[in-house]
Parts: sequence; structure tokens; C-alpha cells
Amino acid sequence: MTPLSSFPANFVWGAATSAYQTEGAVDADGRGESIWDRFCAASGSIKDGTSGAVACDFYGKHRQDVDLMRSLGLDAFRFSVSWPRVLPAGRGPVNARGLDFYDRLVDELLAAGIEPYVNLFHWDLPQPLQDGGGWPLRSTAEAFVEYAAAVGERLGDRVGHWITHNEPACASWLGYGLGIHAPAHRSTSEALAAAHHLLLSHGWAVGELRRHAPRAEVGIVIDSWPVYPWTDSPEDVAAASLADGTMNRWFFDALFRGEYPADMLEHFGREVPAIERGDLAVIATPLDFVGANNYSRRFVRASPDGGAPLDVRAPSGELTAMGWEIYPAGIREVLTRLHREYGIRSLFVAENGAAFGDVRTHDGAIHDLERIRYLDAYLAEVAAAMADGVPVRGYFVWSLLDNFEWAEGYSKRFGLVFVDYPTLERIPKDSFYWYRDLIARTRGVTLAA
Ligand code: GCO
Repeated sequence: MTPLSSFPANFVWGAATSAYQTEGAVDADGRGESIWDRFCAASGSIKDGTSGAVACDFYGKHRQDVDLMRSLGLDAFRFSVSWPRVLPAGRGPVNARGLDFYDRLVDELLAAGIEPYVNLFHWDLPQPLQDGGGWPLRSTAEAFVEYAAAVGERLGDRVGHWITHNEPACASWLGYGLGIHAPAHRSTSEALAAAHHLLLSHGWAVGELRRHAPRAEVGIVIDSWPVYPWTDSPEDVAAASLADGTMNRWFFDALFRGEYPADMLEHFGREVPAIERGDLAVIATPLDFVGANNYSRRFVRASPDGGAPLDVRAPSGELTAMGWEIYPAGIREVLTRLHREYGIRSLFVAENGAAFGDVRTHDGAIHDLERIRYLDAYLAEVAAAMADGVPVRGYFVWSLLDNFEWAEGYSKRFGLVFVDYPTLERIPKDSFYWYRDLIARTRGVTLAA
């Protein structure tokens, strides 16, 4: 059981979503095309052949969803802004109607007593920027700063917490390196160039956001899966270090030490993009907080043919519907690492949660006991990290709503709230009530049964 007394009264309890995964309304009010619209339209990209065209229709139903957040007792809601809604061509004229939507949403949240944590980029790059070359180009980083300025200018008077990017490791590697996400390229050099420009655009945008919102806190959200070697053999240990170097250290070292790891620079050799003088200092701009996402861990072994490390099935065998191992201690390892090895003094868990095969049963409810058990176990590890002195200020469940799970389509449900996709009806799951009660109890409030 989560030790409630570990969470101070000012601990921030939140939930997270992202634009493309929830908003739908892809043609509304002048929104431009995103790389995810294009990617989903190509047959075979998405497991169930769907797209985010309708998703949860958060665009139309946000008032109702803010009411749900209020009844949950959330302190904070983390969402992302859709770049193609704000700048339909990626750069150039601002679409005021796109910004109006976020303006209203921020006001509704504040009126409900919920702090908006606004994330600028959660993977939905405007398609015209991809047509021009996308994140592997430096000009895309420049375009991002213009976009950050447009959003900062409109919302900076009310938004106190800004996130530049969500999971740059996924955006670069899944999108440009491994072909799993939009724009589905498969090139190591493109993935590395994309990563560099995502990070560079982050550093530049921090300055831009501070200019428009001088009192706000600005941070980034990174994902991290601890990587374990399958055996103690030197080959497997080296494979684990390589996998960790690619997905974790490459990003952490750049952001928090202003350098790319020497062993990885050597490993990638000529695939490493041109890095201009001063780039790494920009990337390592000091931040007000770091958000960490954690779901699971990886086991890897050396590939017999000397290729990329191979992922091996988790030894415990306890998996979520994503096939991800349930490994609660991992969240503690990630938070502790960021604090101890990288000196981060202000952390949030920006995403944690799980997909399970939720069903609506005869009583109309969703008894998602597995999710409650998962969240409870992970939160206990967050509490343990805090007891060890790791400065964690808040925790965001992924996700408030079931939503479009990228290449998995609607087949994976992560929500505290079940979405009946044909009708878009929202039905709070048992985990919703569990989280509501947990939040209330940490505040010393006793709820009527
Ligand atoms: C990510 C994203 C979310 C996902 C979630 C579950 O971590 O991939 O931030 O958009 O939906 O993590 O996979």
C-alpha cells in the first residue's frame, strides 16, 4: 500500500494527456495537417487501422473532462498543444482560432482550481515542416522557437508550468530511427540529427518561454527505462550500456552536463550530426524542473551478429497489455539516478500508468484492479525515493482518459476514465475512485463512503 504520509500537503497530484491522442477535431477551426494524420492514413501503420481523427473528442468535450478532473480532485493537468492548430503551416501566420481553444481550456482549468502544465511538443509535427525535412534539420528547431513564442505570448500570463518537449528519445528514435512512429524513417543518422535539434530547440524555447512568462517554471519531460543486461557476460553488459547510452545517457548527459557521452560519440562515429559551437551550452540551459516518465524496464543481450542490442522478454513474466514488465522499483531507480548522477533538484513523475484489457461489466462499471495494484506499487516506490531524499514534487498518471495509443491505435487503454469510443461516453473506472480517494486522504480529507 502506498504510504500516504510520505506525500507532503503541497505534493502535486496530476494526470496527463496529449493533443493528438485525445483531441480529435483534426479539421476544426483551421488546424493544419500533422505528421500523425499522414502516418495514420498510410495503410499498415496503426495496428487497428485507426487514427486520431476523432480520438476522445477532447476538443469538443473538454468542459465535461475538466468537470471529471475536478471531481477527481486533481491539482494539475498536463496536456500538450497541437503545433498544427497554432501554426497550420508550421511557420508563418498564427491561427488565432487554434490558440483560442487552449486559451479557453486554461481558463476552465484555472476556474476549477487545476494548474495547467502545458507541453509544447508531444510528437505532432506540422506536416509541411516534415515535407521540408523535419527534425533532422536545424531549421525545424528554429521554427519550434517561433511556435513557442506564439503560445507563450498568448498563455504566458496564466500558465505557471511549461514543458518544451515530451520524450525526445522517442520522438527521434521511434520516428526517425526505427520507423515505428511518424514519419516512420529508418536511419540512425536522421535519428541522431533529430535528437540534436529537438534538444537544441528545447534550450532555445526555454529562453523564449521565460521572456513571455517570467514567473513561470520551465522544464522538459524525458522518458527512461532502466536497462539491464540479460546475463553477466561482458557482451551482454556492453549491450546494456549501449542501449542505455542510446536512449538514456545521450539525452541526460546533453541536457544536464552539456555533453554527449564520449563512448556513444565513438560508437555512432560518422552518424553524429554537425554540432555547432555553443549548441550544447544551449541544450544544457538550467531548468526549473525535470519531468520523468517511467513505465517499465528493459532486458537486453548482445546480438550474435554484432548488430543492435536485442530486447529479451522480462524474467518476472508480469506484463501489462503493452507487453511491458511490471517493475515498480524501476521508477525509484530512474528518479534516484536523475537526482544522484545528474544533480536534478526538482523532479516530477510526468507519466506513469498502465494499459490493461479493461471491460465494462454487467454492472456498467470497469473494475480495473490490475491498474490500481500497478499504480499503488509504483507510488510506493516514488514514496521510497522521496524518503531517501530524492526531491519529487508531484506525480501525473498517464492517462486521464483512454486514448489513441499511437501505433497501437485504440487497442490499449491507459485511462482512469474509460472511453466508449462509438458514443464517446466517459465512464470513470475503479482506479479513478481509488486515485480520488488517495488524493483526498493525503490532504487529510475523509470522504463519505
Ligand atoms: C509515451 C507518451 C504517451 C504514451 C504513453 C503510453 O510515453 O509514449 O508520452 O503519449 O501514450 O507513454 O505509451
